[in-house]
Amino acid sequence: MKFFIDTANLDQIKEAQDLGVLDGVTTNPSLMAKEGITGQENILNHYKKICELVDGDVSAEVISTDFEGMVKEGEALAALHPQIVVKLPMIADGVKACKYFSDKGIKTNVTLVFSAGQALLAAKAGATYVSPFLGRLDDVSTDGLNLIDEIRMIYDNYGFQTEILAASIRHTMHVINCAKLGADVMTGPLSSIKGLLNHPLTDIGLAKFLEDYNKGN
Ligand code: G3P
Repeated sequence: MKFFIDTANLDQIKEAQDLGVLDGVTTNPSLMAKEGITGQENILNHYKKICELVDGDVSAEVISTDFEGMVKEGEALAALHPQIVVKLPMIADGVKACKYFSDKGIKTNVTLVFSAGQALLAAKAGATYVSPFLGRLDDVSTDGLNLIDEIRMIYDNYGFQTEILAASIRHTMHVINCAKLGADVMTGPLSSIKGLLNHPLTDIGLAKFLEDYNKGN
């Protein structure tokens, strides 16, 4: 299972990278705005900084909602750095743009996916990643994990190579349950990754080992 961090915060990206378990980064316009990164030039420069911090794929989202605009923007994003993955919304023009980029060998991430049918379309269009939003489904009393399960079954039935990138992860149990269901990738906040470390018995056990070692000294 690949671990991506879902943020545009450079300190948090660096912390996850330093932990040695980071495989990539996902961003979106809201995450950029949260860091105060606005304006096209600043946003493009920020993507470059993120790519320099990590080794893996970095999703950069287009703002256009029409095919021509998405192609123009996506080509500019892809030209920024070899690690850039063009992130496209799950709308008709996004699916069309996904097919265009996958035919050209440019990696894509189809985002804002909330149903198995949308995920099937993304795979048909050759998406590298599909991003079902778990947390946002949970927010509206709909089981987000069930969607991951459905997509896994459909992709396995036909051998689709599109990777299931479980997004809108909010906490450690989302990560663990996605791992059980066979999601290829999870993207979440730093807390959802670091939270996996925690167990009181680890802390108690380590304190006891150190206490016993020090008895002899
Ligand atoms: O990767 C998608 C993510 O950015 C959305 O997360 O927490 O805003 O639903 P959230």
